Amino acid sequence: MVRRTDDRAKPRTPMTSTKTAAIIIAAGMGTRMKSSLPKVLHEIAGRAMIGHLLDQLEEIVCDRKVVVLGADAGAIAETVAPVPTTVQDPPLGTADAVLAARQVMAKFDGDVLILFGDTPLLTATTMERMLTRRRADDNPAVVVLGFRADDTTGYGRLVQSEEGSLEAIVEYRDATPEERAISLCNAGIMAADGKRLFMLLDAVSNNNAKDEYYLTDIVAIARSQGHTCAIAETSDQREVIGVNTRGDLAIAEAVMQERLRKRAMANGATLRDPDTVYFSFDTKLGQDVIVSPQVCFGPGVTVGDAVNIRAFCHIEGSDIATGAVIGPFARLRPGSQIGADVHIGNFVEIKQALIETGAKVNHLSYVGDARVGAGANIGAGTITCNYDGFFKAHTDIGAGAFIGSNTALVAPVAVGDGAITGAGSVITTDVPANSLVLERAKQVQKGGWAAQFRLRKKAEKEAAEAPHSTDAVGKTPVRRNKEN
Ligand code: UD1
Ligand code: CA
Repeated sequence: MVRRTDDRAKPRTPMTSTKTAAIIIAAGMGTRMKSSLPKVLHEIAGRAMIGHLLDQLEEIVCDRKVVVLGADAGAIAETVAPVPTTVQDPPLGTADAVLAARQVMAKFDGDVLILFGDTPLLTATTMERMLTRRRADDNPAVVVLGFRADDTTGYGRLVQSEEGSLEAIVEYRDATPEERAISLCNAGIMAADGKRLFMLLDAVSNNNAKDEYYLTDIVAIARSQGHTCAIAETSDQREVIGVNTRGDLAIAEAVMQERLRKRAMANGATLRDPDTVYFSFDTKLGQDVIVSPQVCFGPGVTVGDAVNIRAFCHIEGSDIATGAVIGPFARLRPGSQIGADVHIGNFVEIKQALIETGAKVNHLSYVGDARVGAGANIGAGTITCNYDGFFKAHTDIGAGAFIGSNTALVAPVAVGDGAITGAGSVITTDVPANSLVLERAKQVQKGGWAAQFRLRKKAEKEAAEAPHSTDAVGKTPVRRNKEN
């Protein structure tokens, strides 16, 4: 798992000796996504939703974790490995999903965080707040995360007593108009006392609008048994967005991008127009990096200090060293290693290539499966012909070499240190160091030819346009000049 670049120490010190477990439920069908991909594998900033949640969970001390999956669990299990999984089949509701983890939680003595795989933006800070509340002196059986939403449609409502303790959660579908008027919503996430949790779940029935076993019912059940329940409220409603539709996914992506932009700036990068820069969850930027508008980072990018990324670049799987200048309009594909002070210019594509210190590839080039030595200059339009339809082959360009414009380097091929290739050459065999190589037809020159050509053509055109041209006797007026 790629480490976060922010400066939070992890794992954090436990607040008490009480143990913590986490059950992440992700067995729902996700039908509202209308997708062949399981909902929790849809990506936010280049990482599966559920991966974000597990990443945050890494930041708290968690003694046991399990992900509850549905019938076709394979792909999700692979994604969450080595976190263990268990199966809920068929999915009969959120309470039933948590019950599916009973075996894994056997003999667990501590607090259980119940997280939803489709609520991926939850932060470790909020998880910790919920655990702290769970461990308070009034010893609530269940702590529920509440939030106030602008759009409350679909969310369960938190029903409070007059003193403000939590009495029940009413699902939106089952709520009366008065209950729907409650603005405090259920984020779905809970911290429960592991000793009481499964007894409460056993008492849940499916007597409701969806004929499902609702996790939310454990609150009223706990109250009826004389336990207290509490609310931990988050002021950031965007942290608890439940992703049910593609529209929700887009909102979650926007929230995550905003977090990543803030993080980049907090760590010392300038984003000239933050809203137009798209990060991957793992993008690492050094200090004094400048990112111009419309730049998109895919996964696996590390950028050193003082790098200047000009507008309209697409960068993935690449390492860029200090002082390099990239773009505008550059594409760095996986395996690009850009050395210090290298210049990669407009309409240049680099793939699986090492560009050493100070080399320049400034215009309209493709450099793939290659090494470009330090200080080499790659002329406009240079192409490494790295693929013959079957195999990829390597191009090696020595330090200080000068590759003339429009050179085609047919790999495998090597150009020695300091060598020069003539513009337009097609290089198929290795070029020794410090030599000149030219591969092009000898230039043909005919003095005055162009002027004569124009005179002749002009005369032909005039004859053709004349009123009594030879056309009248059926001959074509346009003569082909055999000398052409
Ligand atoms: C749930 C809450 C609702 C809350 C909302 C917050 C319940 C009954 N309702 O509603 O109060 O406001 O989340 O986003 O808990 N799942 C299973 N197995 C199942 C059903 C669901 O694992 O049988 C998982 C889903 O994969 C998902 C999560 O539980 O990760 C929530 O299920 P979903 O159907 O999306 O619940 P909501 O209707 O959003
Ligand atoms: Ca949901």
